Amino acid sequence: MENEKKVCVTGAAGFLASWLVKRLLEEGYHVVGTVRESEETSHLWKLPGASERLELKSADLVTEGAFDDIVQGCHGVFHVAAAVSVIYKKDPQTEIVDPCLLGTLNVLNACKRSTTVKRVVCTSSVGAVRVRDGFKPNDVLDESMWYPLGKTLGEQAALEFGKDNGLDVITISPSLIVGELLSSSATTSTADIVRMLKGDKRWFDHGGYVHLDDVAQAHLLAYTNPNASGRYVCSAINMSAIELASFMSKRYPKLPIASTDEIEVVFPANFKGFSSRKLQDDLGLQFKSLEQMFDDCIASLDRKGLLT
Ligand SMILES: NC(=O)c1ccc[n+]([C@@H]2O[C@H](COP(=O)([O-])OP(=O)(O)OC[C@H]3O[C@@H](n4cnc5c(N)ncnc54)[C@H](OP(=O)(O)O)[C@@H]3O)[C@@H](O)[C@H]2O)c1
Repeated sequence: MENEKKVCVTGAAGFLASWLVKRLLEEGYHVVGTVRESEETSHLWKLPGASERLELKSADLVTEGAFDDIVQGCHGVFHVAAAVSVIYKKDPQTEIVDPCLLGTLNVLNACKRSTTVKRVVCTSSVGAVRVRDGFKPNDVLDESMWYPLGKTLGEQAALEFGKDNGLDVITISPSLIVGELLSSSATTSTADIVRMLKGDKRWFDHGGYVHLDDVAQAHLLAYTNPNASGRYVCSAINMSAIELASFMSKRYPKLPIASTDEIEVVFPANFKGFSSRKLQDDLGLQFKSLEQMFDDCIASLDRKGLLT
């Protein structure tokens, strides 16, 4: 069927979505990407195949009905966009949680109303898996908790929506994504890595790390494998912030990375790690190494002059 090769990617100009668009174009898909009006998109137009098979349309997650016309004609939708931020100006509910929860429902309602969409792959986060652990007595909670809340509610709503409406919805929950930045400026998530590389001493303990290309591959496998269903954790390496600092300061001695003695760990990961067994066993994903993640990431940041 012709439209099996036509898919929509929300938040197409973002860090992960740009790479997913790149991979989809390489695989011969026609991609309809959604962006916000003010977003920089030049990096997307430089991708091989973009001039022939990429369309960009403007849509905000919280504008009701904004995705209806966009997804019509697409066979699949990758819902990647989210307010990836722990910082808000006035109201965390409208700035962070609503785009995750109401935005997801807005996209899914558009898919349900369409006559063409057969499967939706939503990007969640291990933040939505970590929440299950609850909090320990000594944990200090701060404004960063709005983002995992949004992701948790968004993923839960997506899976329930799928069940209630007979829509095939799959979620992918990556840990910290590390890899090549395609856009010219650092997005929120890469900005965190840039801070670490520039010597910031406050390190969030992400607990797990995964290569950008592996996350894109997980989305592709979830989309194309007829047996894929439910949630998939996508995390290659379990590591504490101290272990990561030790690895990074040894491998990249020219960068001013804080030493293991200097770093202050924010939110220690009080669990053994993440398991991606389901993704590996059922969908056959093979993860790239920690070395490759950071080599690719640092080389791209360096090329763009973001480490000076
Ligand atoms: N990066 C990670 O380590 C990581 C780990 C786990 C899960 N994830 C998930 O992966 C997805 C992509 O994250 P990312 O790291 O690639 O972040 P990103 O670069 O900030 O991409 C997010 C995209 O969503 C867009 N967006 C935000 N609010 C929107 C709204 N109201 N309407 C329309 N678009 C909106 C952003 O546009 P603006 O630039 O205009 O804000 C941006 O293009 C997210 O769902 C995130 O939760 C990321």
